[in-house]
Amino acid sequence: MSYTIAMAGKGGTGKSTIATLIIRYITEELGKAVLAVDADPNSSLGISLGVNVEGTIADIRDDVVERRAKIPAGMSKDRYIEYCIEESIVEENKFDLLTMGRPEGPKCYCYANNLLRKYLDNAEKSYPYIVIDNEAGMEHLSRRTTNDVDLLVIAFESTIIGVHTAKRITTLIESLPIRIKDKIYVICKVPEIGISEKVGSEIAKAGFEVSVRIPFNNEIYDNITSGESLLQISKENIVYNEIKNLMNKYVMASAEK
Ligand SMILES: Nc1ncnc2c1ncn2[C@@H]1O[C@H](COP(=O)(O)OP(=O)(O)O)[C@@H](O)[C@H]1O
Ligand SMILES: [Mg+2]
Repeated sequence: MSYTIAMAGKGGTGKSTIATLIIRYITEELGKAVLAVDADPNSSLGISLGVNVEGTIADIRDDVVERRAKIPAGMSKDRYIEYCIEESIVEENKFDLLTMGRPEGPKCYCYANNLLRKYLDNAEKSYPYIVIDNEAGMEHLSRRTTNDVDLLVIAFESTIIGVHTAKRITTLIESLPIRIKDKIYVICKVPEIGISEKVGSEIAKAGFEVSVRIPFNNEIYDNITSGESLLQISKENIVYNEIKNLMNKYVMASAEK
């Protein structure tokens, strides 16, 4: 069974950044393989991991359902889809990346979500770690049949809206039939002036147990604006070290069990 880490939080908060640094931690520090899943329709994990994504689950769904792609003789539709998904995975030295993409049309998510869930259930056998970068919540992951989420990371910014959105996302996730072992809150892009008293009291009111406050960091900002992979930032980077400390607490502890 894999150890599954899932990201949740409002768009633009820092989920893909954290997911990328977690992937770096698992591959570099633990030396283990990761299946990275970009389940956010605004795909960006490939960019921060510095890999070129050529196919997505949404593309496969569109080919099979909308364009009725010709399935090779002797192959079932399910096997063909599985084959296409395997082909769409970007294989890097230490991690593989599967990208969900955005299906065409408004009613198309169910089919693509089912494909993703089915694939993830199987991937449990092949990867020690799975890191899923999500859109706001995790609606598309509900109804998975096997091991759900070991560590849910809810990211939010240190603003009133940030806290309220994190609260809404928490309520949404709690309403889903997903089993979550550990749930942690990470405050992202904290400015130098720190967190205001008002935001601090909103966090306390919301009852969030905040595991780490990640500062706004110029190296990360420069890195993304120049289109570099986040895997290239220095080992001494403060945000990377915060993520390392955090993961030592959860992932490392689980690896030792
Ligand atoms: N700690 C940080 N310091 C500076 N910039 C950050 C930090 N975390 C994220 N960013 C920047 O904020 C933007 C949104 O981050 P991203 O991880 O893509 O968010 P999300 O995946 O939640 O949409 C990106 O441009 C990213 O480089
Ligand atoms: Mg993202």
